[in-house]
Amino acid sequence: MKRVGTITRHLTHGYTAPSNTNNADAGQVRTGPKLSYEEVTKLSVKELQERFGKAPADGLKTRGVNHVAFVSADMARTLWFWCEVLGFRLVKTLELPGDGQHFFIDGGNDCAIAYFYFPNAPKAVPGVSSIDVDALMTGKGFATAHGSVNHVAFNVSRDKLREYRKRILEAGVGMVSPILYHSDKDPSGYSKTRDENTVWESIYFVGPDNEYLEFAAQTEREFTPEQDILHKPAIGNQD
Ligand SMILES: [Fe+2]
Repeated sequence: MKRVGTITRHLTHGYTAPSNTNNADAGQVRTGPKLSYEEVTKLSVKELQERFGKAPADGLKTRGVNHVAFVSADMARTLWFWCEVLGFRLVKTLELPGDGQHFFIDGGNDCAIAYFYFPNAPKAVPGVSSIDVDALMTGKGFATAHGSVNHVAFNVSRDKLREYRKRILEAGVGMVSPILYHSDKDPSGYSKTRDENTVWESIYFVGPDNEYLEFAAQTEREFTPEQDILHKPAIGNQD
């Protein structure tokens, strides 16, 4: 039997669950026996909507992401970027055996980004450990290795996106995208302006170690299984 991961790290585009889809009190509760991995591979889109569009009554409930940890090549440079450029707050520093470090930096609402510093860490491999920025900029994609963190998106207010973009641009750190309007209706995935089909507005940028980051603002439209769960999951090679 294929191995099935037990931990899902949910790092999407600032996704906030609509209040009526993960709430046992609202009558939106998944029932029935638990399925095996093989059974999940056979579910139709309609079955996925009905089953995974709701959580079971005994489903685990999180209170948001506590932190995501990257690896820094230079903790001083990382601190400069997050605390001086972006204005996040350093909340905790730890020393690790062998001169390593682990720092926690908070952006508000208990949403933190963390960094490890390992003196002998392997060098970044673009396109493997993190995105290949050149490939991204030339339209060749932004794939990274299995199990890697491709990018982290923070929720921000829509009316702050332009100001935050300018601030990152002025710091001259690296790539900063225009404001992007994610749209289900446009084949490219984006529309030129905000309209009724916009699900997120966001900017993408990179940190000092080319860690791929996003500031995302979710629009008012609530996700529904019928409108937003439309694809069967790909079955990959787990070997
Ligand atoms: Fe994203």
